[in-house]
Amino acid sequence: MKFKSLKGIRDILPPETALWQKIENTCREIFKKYGFQEIVLPVIESTDVFIRSIGDTTDIVEKEMYTFLDKGGRSISLRPEGTAPFVRAFVEHHLYNEPPPQKYYYVGPMFRYERPQAFRYRQFYQIGVEALGSEDPKLDAEIISMLAAILKSIGLGNFDFEITSIGCSQCRPEYQKVLKNTLKIKLNLFCEDCRRRYEFNPLRILDCKVDSCIQARTESPAILDFLCADCKQHFDALKHHLGLLSIPYVINPNIVRGLDYYTRTAFEVKSKSLGSQSAVAAGGRYDSLVNEFGGPPAPGIGFAIGIERIIPLLKETNMPVEYPDLFLCSLGQEASKKSFILTEQLRAKGLIVGMSYDNQSLRSQMRKADRIGAKNVIVIGEDELKKGKALIKNMQDKKEAEVDLEVEEILKVIQ
Ligand code: HAM
Repeated sequence: MKFKSLKGIRDILPPETALWQKIENTCREIFKKYGFQEIVLPVIESTDVFIRSIGDTTDIVEKEMYTFLDKGGRSISLRPEGTAPFVRAFVEHHLYNEPPPQKYYYVGPMFRYERPQAFRYRQFYQIGVEALGSEDPKLDAEIISMLAAILKSIGLGNFDFEITSIGCSQCRPEYQKVLKNTLKIKLNLFCEDCRRRYEFNPLRILDCKVDSCIQARTESPAILDFLCADCKQHFDALKHHLGLLSIPYVINPNIVRGLDYYTRTAFEVKSKSLGSQSAVAAGGRYDSLVNEFGGPPAPGIGFAIGIERIIPLLKETNMPVEYPDLFLCSLGQEASKKSFILTEQLRAKGLIVGMSYDNQSLRSQMRKADRIGAKNVIVIGEDELKKGKALIKNMQDKKEAEVDLEVEEILKVIQ
């Protein structure tokens, strides 16, 4: 019987894994500069953690969570995102007692039962950051600037940084009232889900992906026109600080975000090369979530990068692959023993070295060296072993040189 991976869930194979490493390594280096520390969070949480934060009328909670009862009858969910588990941990371990702003990052798989399509998977990987303990818009600008630095450092350009403010508990209710009044007369044009959302969470209607709903809501009022004085000042200051750092941005008042915990700043970074799933990263402020989870007032802001959305862009830029410095071919038992020892010794000196297995013919060994792109090849046979010398062939310019079969001598030729 042949098994296949589940729908929307895939294996990540080399050489793509090298691109993943590059993304992760770059992020880790940049996070260090900005003072972010790694936090490793569980993949499963009590379902309530997500319902209470993401919101029970969001698509994620209503339709997309992998939820099951464990053997003790508790409702458990695979995490659809990282902010809720992070805030649960932040409160549980009193991380708010650390000097603010407290800055953390995490890397790992998330799970959403969405309809799979290009760049949208049911298991996908995020690199997320969260910074808490300050509502200073400088922090918002710094976080967005860090995201820009990451994308630049990975070697990518051509993104749109879209920002908006979605207000706070002071100004949003007034906006919701006006929005409901506007949508009321067209309610029959909306899908069943939206008609239900209209009662409990009208903002979600702005996030619905159904074509008829997109059409029907085109002339709705924008929340930016309803911000209270504090939120407006905060948004103006964010724009000012982005300007100071020369970060280009566009204001998109239609950003809603699919999660209910956001307040004020919301942003998305989009690439034109990705089609409909164009958001490579997204985030925003969540100033009351820690409080709602039983912690002290601790405003927060963060974002998550979708690794699967960065990979195809990196492929476009033709990333170089690392090829072995040397491949050791051997003929006969004694030569095989010698090459086995030499391989390990050369690796210990920092070289990337390959060797042959299974007593293959010289032809097969050479073919393997060629296929893996080895830069140099040494063939050790009985004669070479007796003399303690062999030919080393540079596979690029095809030049050959004699070399003593000693680690230091081989290093001299290769380096
Ligand atoms: P999100 O917008 O739901 O935000 O996801 C962030 C990013 O994850 C998206 O921009 C996208 O690149 C990637 N992503 C989401 N769903 C999928 C999928 N099905 N397949 C592939 N990639 C996907 C959050 O998750 C928030 N927790 C971000 C945040 C952190 N806000 C504050 N702190």
